[in-house]
Amino acid sequence: MKIKFTDLYKLTPYKKKIKKKINSLIEKNQFVGGEEVKKFENEFAKFTGSKYCVSLGNGTDALYLAVKSLNLKKGSEVIVPCNTWISTAESVVGENLKIIFCDVNLDDYSICTKDLKKKISSKTKLIMPVHLYGNPANLYEIKNIIKNKNIKIIEDCAQAHGSKINSKHVGTFGDIGTFSFFPGKNLGCFGDGGAIVTNNKKYYEYVMRARNHGALKKYDHKFSAYNSRLDTIQAAILRIKLKNYSRQLNRRRQISNLYYKNLSNIQKIKLFNLKKNQFSCYHQFVIRTSQRNSLQKFLKKNNISTMIHYPYMLNDLKFFKYNKKMKNSYKLGNKILSLPISEEHSNKEINYICEKIQIFFKN
Ligand SMILES: Cc1ncc(COP(=O)(O)O)c(C=O)c1O
Repeated sequence: MKIKFTDLYKLTPYKKKIKKKINSLIEKNQFVGGEEVKKFENEFAKFTGSKYCVSLGNGTDALYLAVKSLNLKKGSEVIVPCNTWISTAESVVGENLKIIFCDVNLDDYSICTKDLKKKISSKTKLIMPVHLYGNPANLYEIKNIIKNKNIKIIEDCAQAHGSKINSKHVGTFGDIGTFSFFPGKNLGCFGDGGAIVTNNKKYYEYVMRARNHGALKKYDHKFSAYNSRLDTIQAAILRIKLKNYSRQLNRRRQISNLYYKNLSNIQKIKLFNLKKNQFSCYHQFVIRTSQRNSLQKFLKKNNISTMIHYPYMLNDLKFFKYNKKMKNSYKLGNKILSLPISEEHSNKEINYICEKIQIFFKN
């Protein structure tokens, strides 16, 4: 049996409907802006339970514009977890702000609140928790830690469409939530895409203009800004996918349950240890083992593709110039392994993967 990590084309449900929609937009010359974009923004705001949504060119721009909208003082410190995609940290660099990397916990791999307490200083003005792999970071505790302090929160939800804490969607606990619709994401379009959600009118109005040369309509520039818009075709694709997204979430939960059932007895691997109130969208199913490299090789030999998210911690990247060691995540990039988890995988495939992992650890 050959098991791909993911097969994006196979993954896309309702292909006929999507192709018909794309054709009709082409025939109507609708490529940028318009009704589809507005409708998607309204629907995504409702999906997350936010007042406002601004769609954007990608998730990196969403982070970047979110940070810019806060207008933080030069030299302010921004706390970013060290295990995340590089974009979270990149959004801070160009803004004359100082990145302070924070450790992650080994239960869900999101920001470690114990280390966070140590990293907060009088200069801290922003914390950027990442709901990595779809696992919600502990926003209740983070908010409690910064109670009475003038510290903002931008939640990076690029991997967390549909993830919730106590039935409340991630991205709605802090000041701004940012999303990516990159094709490989749970809710992905057919190219790049992103969005911010917020309840704050000021941030919303800034990002609405900043994404379009400082203008809400043609020649209405109020400041010099950027071009970062979600294309009409991408918005239309996302609308179709969003309508059917709960089915996808259910299937991912079923697959994760299969993994838990079949792998929990193996002492040498650690699975996610989520709390009851953490509802993950299971963007990735990550296991941890000191035999990671040989396990990955063994699975590859058996035609099972796996990935590593991520092979380095951001504090290990020299150009970020942050050389403090992280206790939990020290060499974490050598131990983690992402197993296939996509709606298209069958129970038979997941059982086969688990069987091979069992055989590996028995030998
Ligand atoms: C955690 C995280 N943040 C930000 C991004 C950036 O999103 P995009 O690729 O759409 O720019 C990604 C995408 O991989 C991500 O995983």
